[in-house]
Amino acid sequence: MSSERKRDELRICETPAQLEEAVADLFVDDARSTIEQRGAFFAALSGGTTPKAAYALLTRADCRTVIDWQRVFIYFGDERCVPPESNESNYKMAFETFLSKVPIPPQNVRRMHGEDDPLRAAKAYAQVLIETMGEPPRFDLVLLGMGADGHTASLFPGTDPRTDEEQLVRALFVEKLGAHRLTLTPRVINNARHVVIALEGLPKAPALYAVREGPYDPIAHPVQIVSPHDGTLTWLVDKAAAAELTG
Ligand code: 6PG
Repeated sequence: MSSERKRDELRICETPAQLEEAVADLFVDDARSTIEQRGAFFAALSGGTTPKAAYALLTRADCRTVIDWQRVFIYFGDERCVPPESNESNYKMAFETFLSKVPIPPQNVRRMHGEDDPLRAAKAYAQVLIETMGEPPRFDLVLLGMGADGHTASLFPGTDPRTDEEQLVRALFVEKLGAHRLTLTPRVINNARHVVIALEGLPKAPALYAVREGPYDPIAHPVQIVSPHDGTLTWLVDKAAAAELTG
């Protein structure tokens, strides 16, 4: 429960399967306790492969019944600039593995419109956040991943994630991918009650070491910008990703 949680906790799971269970459990715990306390649960989902298995676990019968899905409101932390039918779409992944299989009202799911002009889509999503959650929006849970280059959401190395501090949603062109992305900004991420960064696998071990034990350099390792100012941060990693940590 959130009241017992440390402000910045690192949990190391033995296996990827345990990590995925832990992500699903955190979602369920946060949803239940938040709905009990405040009547509604606002969560932002990440894309990528790590959360996919956790989303699938949330469709199990026990998860379907313990959460009051009418009171769950789902948003996205980032999106690829593609239509929602594209296999690249974070929305498509979350819809197919999770959202279409739980009794959440469709109007409670707010996706980023990756098919629109990126700048217009970023502005429109910021407006959706303000209209539905106020400004700045305060998520109960932001789920994030981390790439082997230290990116999170679509905040990629090489650009200072602290720029445009007033913005809620940013459209950007990621040179190394040759693609446009939409992302929540640190202003929104760090205003959340709880941020979970989940990652697994040996290829991510050097970045996790650099991020946790190296110097603070969010231009090189954007995930270092994540630090909820009035909330908690949980790192969920598997043993392989934690292989280079010393502490
Ligand atoms: C995305 C993301 C991104 C992701 C990381 C880790 O759209 O790709 O939201 O930030 O979380 O790239 O992805 P994996 O779990 O696939 O390594």
